[in-house]
Amino acid sequence: MGAGKTTIARTLGLPCVATDEDVPIALFEEGEPAFRAREAEVVRTVLERAEPVVVDLGGGAVTIPEVRTLLKERATVVWLDVDVDTAWERVRRSDRPLAQDHGEFKRLYEERRPLYTEVADVVARDADDVVLAAASVHVERGALGRLGELVPGDGAVALVSDPRVAGIHGMDAQLALGPRLAETHELPPGEEAKTLAALDRLWQELRLDRTGTIVAFGGGCTTDAAGLAAATYLRGIAWTPVPTSLVAQVDAAIGGKTAIDLPQGKNLVGAFHWPARTVVDPALLETLPEPQRLEGMAEVVKAGLLAGEPFWELPDDELVRRSAAFKAAICLRDPHERGERAALNLGHTFAHALEAAAGYEGLTHGRAVALGLLAALRLSGRETGVVEEVLRPQPVRVDRELAWQAMRRDKKARGGDPRFVLLGDDGPRIGVAVPEEDARRELDRLIA
Ligand SMILES: NC(=O)c1ccc[n+]([C@@H]2O[C@H](COP(=O)([O-])OP(=O)(O)OC[C@H]3O[C@@H](n4cnc5c(N)ncnc54)[C@H](O)[C@@H]3O)[C@@H](O)[C@H]2O)c1
Ligand SMILES: [Zn+2]
Repeated sequence: MGAGKTTIARTLGLPCVATDEDVPIALFEEGEPAFRAREAEVVRTVLERAEPVVVDLGGGAVTIPEVRTLLKERATVVWLDVDVDTAWERVRRSDRPLAQDHGEFKRLYEERRPLYTEVADVVARDADDVVLAAASVHVERGALGRLGELVPGDGAVALVSDPRVAGIHGMDAQLALGPRLAETHELPPGEEAKTLAALDRLWQELRLDRTGTIVAFGGGCTTDAAGLAAATYLRGIAWTPVPTSLVAQVDAAIGGKTAIDLPQGKNLVGAFHWPARTVVDPALLETLPEPQRLEGMAEVVKAGLLAGEPFWELPDDELVRRSAAFKAAICLRDPHERGERAALNLGHTFAHALEAAAGYEGLTHGRAVALGLLAALRLSGRETGVVEEVLRPQPVRVDRELAWQAMRRDKKARGGDPRFVLLGDDGPRIGVAVPEEDARRELDRLIA
């Protein structure tokens, strides 16, 4: 009661059934047993449905043994563990029969706690924790040390690492995986990992059978390439990315997209292959070089602007958790990028044009996104102060005409007219056409 379940169901974008709405509170006057019997019936009907649904369970439902059994058999149970005083503040002025007296409310809370512990698969503090649980993303400082338990299943594990990360944290990962670790592989550093040659070598080295799991340990290049190996090897096996760069923790390892590059362009061959679990340990960021951190901050600022919350001001653990949850929520609602997920391209139409004009040399994706965010904010009639302070973008030296032509060829352009993600008053607007002279003027301002 009062934990915020309704808000969370909306965030997950699934139909939501609040069981207590179907049980008239008036029944309470006939006594709690009559009320609970009716509640059990409603819960059974809902849980027997075939399609996924969020069930907003009344706080007392777990006191019914039949409901506890149903939950164990048919549901992933998330316990929203708010403290008793917060919950009381939220419900005290309501007409709920069990929320009329503070002392009684506290007593109920203590009485039910063991039952919640018994049925919960996941304990969550807020909506972001629930989203992360639903997306199988585990964010925890020190998680690397528990990797053996955190990789789902009990089959063999192949550890696929970035060479630099293997040098710094590889031993810890291997020790944590313990006896499950069957093989170790290294991909070439950086974007070289995302080539057919590297993937081919990995395919041929792998010895796992179909019960095995690939653990991808490194930045976004490692998770993209090892993820595609997992999507294709033996027609697809389970994988668990353990992202080590900020880019990978808040972006690349969230959402199930995997890819390698072709000479014709980046990310042109890939697959959607959702990880069995993503294990995010923010402590790994402590060894990340500053320029690489700034690459990730560009996506953190993007996510914060889209969410309307300053994620970039948070300490690392929260910055990662909230940015990852923001992306996970969008990807859960739109797993195959048919709609809303396009919002994640804020600033990216400009960024891709600048990267193409630079010939993908000398201009990193993060620096290009920082510039692209400036342009997207200006076109949206917004202040650009945050981007300037946090990301300090500098105009780039590229050919103006080349950049403009690249923007017109953008994947998301329709008939040569680039489309943009802009920020409206109620959040992002997708696929917005902008007058050519405005788009060109904003692109020009990004070029030195
Ligand atoms: N699949 C997706 O949805 C998605 C989303 C965003 C980006 N990406 C892809 O991600 C890639 C970029 O990822 P990236 O920026 O992580 O690059 P990266 O994997 O090359 O890592 C950047 C550098 O940081 C080093 N590094 C990583 N973690 C470290 C750590 N903890 N300590 C010390 N050094 C560390 C790596 O060795 C590397 O040199 C691009 O190929 C991009 O296309 C994919
Ligand atoms: Zn990006």
